[in-house]
Amino acid sequence: MTNDDWSKLVDTSDEWITTRTGIKERHFAAPGQAASDLVKIAAEKALEDAGIDKDEIDVIIVGTVNADNNYPSTGNWVQKKMGMKPVPSFDISAACSSFLYGLILGDSLIKSGAAKTVLVSSAEIMSQIIDWEDRNTCVLFGDGAGSAVLRESDGEEGILSSCWGADGNLGDLLVQPAGGSAMPPTEETLARKLHTVHMKGNEVFKHAVLRMQEASMKAMELANLSSEDIDLFIPHQANLRIIDATIRRAKIPLEKTYITVDKIANMSGATIPVSLDMARREGRIKEGTTVLTSAFGAGFTWGGLVIQF
Ligand code: ACO
Repeated sequence: MTNDDWSKLVDTSDEWITTRTGIKERHFAAPGQAASDLVKIAAEKALEDAGIDKDEIDVIIVGTVNADNNYPSTGNWVQKKMGMKPVPSFDISAACSSFLYGLILGDSLIKSGAAKTVLVSSAEIMSQIIDWEDRNTCVLFGDGAGSAVLRESDGEEGILSSCWGADGNLGDLLVQPAGGSAMPPTEETLARKLHTVHMKGNEVFKHAVLRMQEASMKAMELANLSSEDIDLFIPHQANLRIIDATIRRAKIPLEKTYITVDKIANMSGATIPVSLDMARREGRIKEGTTVLTSAFGAGFTWGGLVIQF
């Protein structure tokens, strides 16, 4: 769906969306597709790419704010739909940071010996929770899913460092107010569109820049690397201006920064795995490439990792 497509539905323009966000187009799931359906597609491709059979997976982690149901978890539905063994399967709710939270958790499970092979995915169907009449938010998001297979490595490669954090005091700045136990669904909540994304965009912007910069710098410091040692930076893609401000503050060169926001918009937690996949397909990530990635999202939550491929 292009910016021009949106301009036929709400009072907006390609010019406004492009200059304020860098977004040109986004993709939406088909009616009837649930988050687990998108994970299944991504996870099957990831397993094939890794040359690993689904029976070798011993933990399934899904990051999502668009779970199929409150319960069972999307991870459980993925297990069923992919015909996988009865291994632990669960969801992470950390919004745009959920894939990085999943990588950090999966890495820890492997390092502790609790798991050998972990499937980490994120899927979002933001088109189901945006207010299609609110130009302030509807144009910003896209749908998608991405998956990664984690396994112990015997060489230099792997997750070299990670950091994560959260500040629940700022939860009201980006929230889907209704539908949970704090505000169960009623006719009134539906009429007032309280099941959609509510956001104080300017406030989110400021915190996103600060936390993405901090997480990026912390992850590099923990890996004992500087931005000169990083081959590619894959930030969460909410807005080109957030990315620009982050790289300026963290002193990461633009030519090392991978931009996908123009093509996929903000896919929340699915943004980073989809961007990683796009970078690999374009040849920007090869064996030996050192990737820095960082994210910020509702909660607020944030995280950063350095990954040696
Ligand atoms: N088309 C045209 N005009 C619009 C649109 C639109 N789609 N959306 C808002 N406007 C108008 C507003 O109504 C306002 O008009 P007014 O001055 O008459 O009231 C005007 O544009 C300016 O609005 P601002 O809020 O000042 O615009 P700003 O430059 O801050 O950009 C934006 C807004 C793009 C939302 C920005 O604040 C932002 O990107 N914030 C980060 C939020 C985000 O990306 N959240 C995603 C989840 S969190 C994450 O992933 C990190």
